[in-house]
Amino acid sequence: MKRGEWGIVIGIGVVVVAGMAWKSFQTTQSDKKDFKIPFYSTASPDLQARAAELMRRENCRQCHTLWSTRDPLQAVPAPPLDGMGSLKDEAWLYTYLSAPRPQDIVPTRLKPEYRHPSLAYLPDAERRSLAQYLASLKVEDWYLAEVKKVEFEKLTGKDYVP
Ligand code: HEC
Repeated sequence: MKRGEWGIVIGIGVVVVAGMAWKSFQTTQSDKKDFKIPFYSTASPDLQARAAELMRRENCRQCHTLWSTRDPLQAVPAPPLDGMGSLKDEAWLYTYLSAPRPQDIVPTRLKPEYRHPSLAYLPDAERRSLAQYLASLKVEDWYLAEVKKVEFEKLTGKDYVP
């Protein structure tokens, strides 16, 4: 090859490498936290399957958002369950789900038909599974303040002032 030809080959090589570097830079950028879903569960696949079945049967999504989805026909302003395990621990959740009057624990501002129903009638094992699963629903630290804000606003109907 002539010298000029080598120049062209090297030139093309530089462009290709620079292009690859730019692409990988963009990919790392889009991996940044703002584009990631901040919610995750630490539950075993077995617990996830049992809880999913219970929550389907008990219609939790009629009022609550979970994995960012809810029943689109319902408009009850209940706090989302996403990230619940970073707000409340398993013992608290078990007590809440077992309470004959949950509103004694979390006060309500809603009409009776929109309030969280007592699940005290469920078998103990089912309430335990639900509590264990809800406690496994975590949120990344960088999004925790947002989850607290939404919970406060849903429960009180007021703006959150940190
Ligand atoms: C009829 C609507 C409705 C259904 C169905 C419902 N909830 Fe609720 N839930 C609420 C509302 C509203 C609140 C807030 C307290 C209140 O107003 O009673 C709440 C509160 C909660 C809380 C406490 C939230 C907090 O931030 O303190 C948990 C946990 C919860 N619900 C879990 C569940 C689970 C699990 C199911 C299904 C087994 C379920 N809920 C079914 C409406 C509902």
